[in-house]
Amino acid sequence: MKENQRETLSMVLSVLIFAATFQVCFSATKQLRGSIKMQTKSPKRVGSSLVFHVEGDIYPNGFFYTSIYIGNPPKLYFLDIDTGSDLTWVQCAAAPSAKLLKAPHTPYKPNNNAVFCKDPLCASVNQPSGYPCKSPNDQCDYEVEYADYGSSLGVLVRDKVPFKFTNGSVSQPILAFGCGYDQAFSGPFSPPYVDGVLGLANGKSSIVSQLRNLGITRNVIGHCFSGRGGGFLFIGDDIIPSGTAWIPMLPNSLNHYLSGPVDLLFDGKTLGAKGLNIVFDSGSTYTYLNSQAYQATLSRLNSGLVGKPISKVADGNLPVCWKGAHPFRSVGDIRKYFSTLELSFTNAKNVRFVIQPEGYLILTSPGTVCLGILNSAEANLGNLNLIGDISFQDKLIIYDNERRMIGWAPSNCQKPPKF
Ligand SMILES: *[C@@H]1O[C@H](CO)[C@@H](O)[C@H](O)[C@H]1NC(C)=O
Repeated sequence: MKENQRETLSMVLSVLIFAATFQVCFSATKQLRGSIKMQTKSPKRVGSSLVFHVEGDIYPNGFFYTSIYIGNPPKLYFLDIDTGSDLTWVQCAAAPSAKLLKAPHTPYKPNNNAVFCKDPLCASVNQPSGYPCKSPNDQCDYEVEYADYGSSLGVLVRDKVPFKFTNGSVSQPILAFGCGYDQAFSGPFSPPYVDGVLGLANGKSSIVSQLRNLGITRNVIGHCFSGRGGGFLFIGDDIIPSGTAWIPMLPNSLNHYLSGPVDLLFDGKTLGAKGLNIVFDSGSTYTYLNSQAYQATLSRLNSGLVGKPISKVADGNLPVCWKGAHPFRSVGDIRKYFSTLELSFTNAKNVRFVIQPEGYLILTSPGTVCLGILNSAEANLGNLNLIGDISFQDKLIIYDNERRMIGWAPSNCQKPPKF
């Protein structure tokens, strides 16, 4: 598929606005808990890793982000962590007429550092249809559209990005990223309060591919989002826990982290939804299932609730919510009424991605609980199946683009491993 036909499936900007406190029980995956040892890999690797602190949560924020310094002198930016798109961009004061969204920091200022059209990297970004590259010395424009009606238009620039590596070294590789001077957002939710997007899909324009090409880190990404909020992110292959479950990535023209086929199980029993392919996308707040799989899940959930002191309630933000006799104070209060959803990977022996109730339920401020699995057809995502942040909580998720494998291991995600 041509680059300019591409629409990332990322749901970067899907944020719910609820205002209040959110408390979540944090025992997502019971099996193997506490048995994770971080092992250091053999010294054959390229370079060492980068570890980033992560902030954010499912509720009330609806997204996870990390802080990155860019430029000289370095300035801080908050970037939404998105494994569903390639390009990293920051809001940019390229012209007085720039259309910027409300953001935590002042926009990046370009300094005649545009990437040219003749640069090979320019071929790997999506060109705006209105003004594609005409001559080799034109600046390289990009446009990225997200599935949740957010978009960024701008110019590719290069600048220093200072990093401290896990081996203790500090260096400032020069990386290309988007200087976004025209951001729009028309979705039903508010855009996340960040300065841009950290694109971690496996296309050539991603900063992880660039770091790999510079021989600095391996093209391996890991994120760990805690059910209590926060977590960590890493780039490189220093930190792969023993006991990680692995499945192969499926090639696809969109550079998505696609896997499958999977059969869905609820409470250990088949849902009749088989052979699904599924995208791992940290840019999405929620998990999405195709209509048939969604209906099957919902009807099994509902039949499990018959006779329980819990009833349906309209919440106004998410389509399916329940209330109890008293407001729920934690997802732990009600996990006993719900069962685990499992993705059974039929091309990998005995590999299951287990989603506990904490991985698909959201406790909202009035003390109701809502389903964090949505019907992709109702979200204009067609037949897509996608695992989003809600189901990544309390798991370390690893995207190994070197071996073309996706892995996961239970973790409380509270602290990055020590070196
Ligand atoms: C640490 O890792 C970085 C990134 O791979 C590399 O450039 C640097 O030379 C390494 N430093 C040492 C002391 O090995």
